Amino acid sequence: MLDLNDYITSIPDFPEKGVIFRDITPLWGDPKASAEATRRITHFAKMRDVNVVVGPESRGFLVGAPVANELGTGIVLARKPGKLPRETVSEKYTLEYGEAALEMHKDAIKPGEKVLITDDLLATGGTIAAAIKLVESLGGIVAGLAFMIELKDLNGREKLEGYDILSLMSY
Ligand code: PRP
Ligand code: ADE
Repeated sequence: MLDLNDYITSIPDFPEKGVIFRDITPLWGDPKASAEATRRITHFAKMRDVNVVVGPESRGFLVGAPVANELGTGIVLARKPGKLPRETVSEKYTLEYGEAALEMHKDAIKPGEKVLITDDLLATGGTIAAAIKLVESLGGIVAGLAFMIELKDLNGREKLEGYDILSLMSY
């Protein structure tokens, strides 16, 4: 059986000293591994009657787009500031390395829609907590959170209490 962990490489001290960077590009470079990851996340989303997928820029787009395709739903982009052309809602957050913000179009989610938020990796949880705030501020219901990788030591789950979480791999 295919082991997704075989498609992750670990690079110490990138992008700064003390961080072990978990590089998912070999998984995306392999059609079988990539399809298997998409299949597992899609299954999780189907069980939760998801109507729409949200992916945070930029690696979250690569996870979310094929899942939305398999589900037959749309994907909503949660983008870094200044990229979306129409009226937005915005949330600031902190990362394992640095600070950032995410924005979504104000009309991107309809009240009551069931949303899957998905990303390549859960580290401190800052990105996903910001995406949750954006979705809920627009009246969306967060039906599930799905990640390829969870970095256990960074305790991202603590920020996401009460939400239904899938992680395909953990380190
Ligand atoms: C990475 C990763 C997650 C986030 C996880 O994105 O893709 O979105 O960090 O960290 P957190 O749980 O501490 O918030 P990054 O902001 O580096 O952007 P990228 O996807 O454009 O590389
Ligand atoms: N994003 C935030 N922390 C990361 C890590 N350690 N490896 C890969 N992507 C990340």
